[in-house]
Amino acid sequence: MNKIVEVLPDKAILIARALDVVVSKMQAAIEENGWCTIALAGGSTPKPLYEAIATQALQWDKVHVFWGDERYVGADHPDSNQRMARLAWLNQVSIPEANIHPMPTSGENPAADAEEHQAQLRDFFKTSQEEFPNFDVILLGIGDDAHTASLFPHTEALQVKEQLVTVGNKDGQPRITFTATLINHAKCVMFLVAGAGKQQALAEIFAPEADPLTYPARLIQPQGELWWLLDQEAGKNLNR
Ligand code: 6PG
Repeated sequence: MNKIVEVLPDKAILIARALDVVVSKMQAAIEENGWCTIALAGGSTPKPLYEAIATQALQWDKVHVFWGDERYVGADHPDSNQRMARLAWLNQVSIPEANIHPMPTSGENPAADAEEHQAQLRDFFKTSQEEFPNFDVILLGIGDDAHTASLFPHTEALQVKEQLVTVGNKDGQPRITFTATLINHAKCVMFLVAGAGKQQALAEIFAPEADPLTYPARLIQPQGELWWLLDQEAGKNLNR
């Protein structure tokens, strides 16, 4: 694992730095493989990054967009991560609809929808039951409780190692989420963290010893690159 930690002066500069790194990796993947695969984080932090990516001159027909987790709501629900990314980015560019791979959340059965998305991923990446796809980029955030994606503290999802996708649980509300194992198979994982509210979570995540079941972002130890892009507010007291 190649870990890069950068503390940027403010969120705008953090987003600009993230744009530079993410777009260069997308372009490199397209040049090398003919396409790129990126899985998006939800929440509020990455929205300006998605707006900025929409301004870039990328070969959109070669870009495939996924989500690392999704709230178990319809695609037009205000809480939908898919809705946020479509409004901020995907609706603004000429990306084919077939290149957009949302997590299914329309059923009544989160476990079945997680299975369905897992099958969709295996079909897209042409991987066997034993293999894990290698996303070019996976974007993540952390909550104040040190969760990431929808891997929340002391939930069953943290124990799911052999699957690509599973059901997360936030205070009893179901989520669909990549497993830590799938995330750790990415070529590049990038955390975007901003705001003083994340300081304590970061301190626990970066501490030499801490329980990953209590601080799930600690489970993210990818075989590829691990980027932590922090603004000063979040990262100023961090022992890196
Ligand atoms: C989600 C996210 C989640 C998010 C963190 C941080 O569906 O909410 O995927 O893991 O990244 O909760 O959220 P903020 O960026 O809003 O602080």
